[in-house]
Amino acid sequence: MKFFVDTADVDAIKELNDLGMVDGVTTNPSLILKAGRDITEVTREICELVDGPVSAEVVAEKAEDMIREGKILAKIADNIAVKVPLTWDGLKACRALSDEGHMVNVTLCFSPAQAILAAKAGATFISPFIGRLDDIHLDGIDLIADIREIYDNYGYETQILAASIRTVNHIIEVGKIGTDVITAPPAVIKSMVKHVLTDKGLEQFNADWAKTGQKIG
Ligand code: G3P
Repeated sequence: MKFFVDTADVDAIKELNDLGMVDGVTTNPSLILKAGRDITEVTREICELVDGPVSAEVVAEKAEDMIREGKILAKIADNIAVKVPLTWDGLKACRALSDEGHMVNVTLCFSPAQAILAAKAGATFISPFIGRLDDIHLDGIDLIADIREIYDNYGYETQILAASIRTVNHIIEVGKIGTDVITAPPAVIKSMVKHVLTDKGLEQFNADWAKTGQKIG
């Protein structure tokens, strides 16, 4: 399972990257706002830090404007994946940018039908949003399973990038289905380490060790 980090917080990316846990990064306009940084500057910094794909999102609505913005973003670094929304214009931009050799991440996917169109339009990544479906009482995990089944039926090479991940359980469930990539906030990735029995076991070991009166080294 490839790990992308869903943030534009350079320090948070660096911490995970130093452990070899970052296969790529995803950003979006909301994450750029949260980081409070200039999009070009922060994206360049992330691209210098991380070897894998770094998604940077266009904000235009018309295909020709998305293509223009996508080309500007792609100039930031060789590892940019241009992120376009799953609209008809977004699919046109996906086809054009992909034909020119750029990686394209088609985002805001909420149905298997949309995912089929993205694959047909040459997307490198499809980003189905799990958490936002859960928010409206639909099953985001089912969406990943449906897309996996359909993509495998036809050998589509578009990678499934499970997004809008809010919990460790989301990561486990999409891993069981066989998502290609997950993108999650740094805090969710770091919380994967937590287990109550690990904490309890460590507490016991420390207490027993103190009773031995010994030191290592
Ligand atoms: O990568 C898309 C993701 O950032 C959306 O997450 O939690 O805002 O639904 P969320």
